[in-house]
Amino acid sequence: MKPLAYSIAQRTLHWLTALLIFFNLLFPGRIERVTDQLAEGSVPAPQDWTSANLHIYTGFAIIGLTVLRLILRAVQGAPDSPAEEPAFFRLASKVAHGLLYLLLFAMPVAGIAKFYLGVDFAGFLHAGPMKVALWTLVIAHVCGVLVHKFYWKTNVLDRMTRGVN
Ligand code: HEM
Ligand code: HEM
Repeated sequence: MKPLAYSIAQRTLHWLTALLIFFNLLFPGRIERVTDQLAEGSVPAPQDWTSANLHIYTGFAIIGLTVLRLILRAVQGAPDSPAEEPAFFRLASKVAHGLLYLLLFAMPVAGIAKFYLGVDFAGFLHAGPMKVALWTLVIAHVCGVLVHKFYWKTNVLDRMTRGVN
C-alpha cells in the first residue's frame, strides 16, 4: 500500500534540503578563492575561511539529510503519481526525481574531490556541468509542480506541504 502523502519527517527533510541547495547555489561565497589560494600555497583570510566552511558544511549536511531521506523513503514509501498526470509526464517526473537524488550526492562528492583531493576535473564538473544540471532540474521540478497545481489541478503540492491528499 502506497501512502497518500509524504510524512512530516519526509516533508521537513525535503524543504530543509531545498533551502540548503538554494543557499549553496546562490551564495557559494569565497569557496573558489580559498581553493585557489590553498593551491597557490597562500593563507586565506579568516573571513574567507568562514565563508568557504559555510559552503562545505552545508554540502556535508545535504549528504546526511539525503541519506536519511532515502532511508525514510525505503521504509515509509512515497505517494503514487496522480491519475490526472499523463503517462509521459509520470515517467519524466520519476526520471527527474532520480536525477535530483543523484545530484544531491554527486554535487557535494565532486566538491569534496576538488577541495580535499585536488582533483581539478571534479572541480570543473562541480562548478560547471553539474551546477547547470542542478539548476535546470530544479527549475523543471518547480515548473512541473506549477503545472500540477494550476493545469491538472492535482494535490501534488499539498502532499509535500500540508501532508494531505
Ligand atoms: C550540494 C551541495 C553543493 C552545491 C549546490 C554547491 C554549489 C557550488 C557552486 C554554485 C559553486 C560556484 C561555482 C561558480 O563559481 O559558478 C561551487 C564551487 C565550489 N564548491 Fe561547491 N557546492 C556544494 C557542495 C560542496 C562541498 C561539500 C564542497 C567541498 C567539501 C564544495 C567545494 C567547492 C569548491 C572547491 C568550489 C570551487 C570550484 C573550483 O574552484 O573549481 N562544494 N559550489
Ligand atoms: C531546490 C531543491 C529541490 C530539490 C533538490 C528537490 C527534490 C525533490 C525530490 C527528489 C522529490 C521526490 C521525492 C520522493 O518521491 O522521494 C521532490 C518532490 C517534490 N518537490 Fe521538490 N525539490 C526541490 C525544491 C522544490 C521546490 C522549490 C518546490 C516547490 C514548488 C518543490 C516541490 C515538490 C513537491 C510538491 C514534491 C512532491 C512531488 C510528488 O508528490 O510527486 N520542490 N523534490
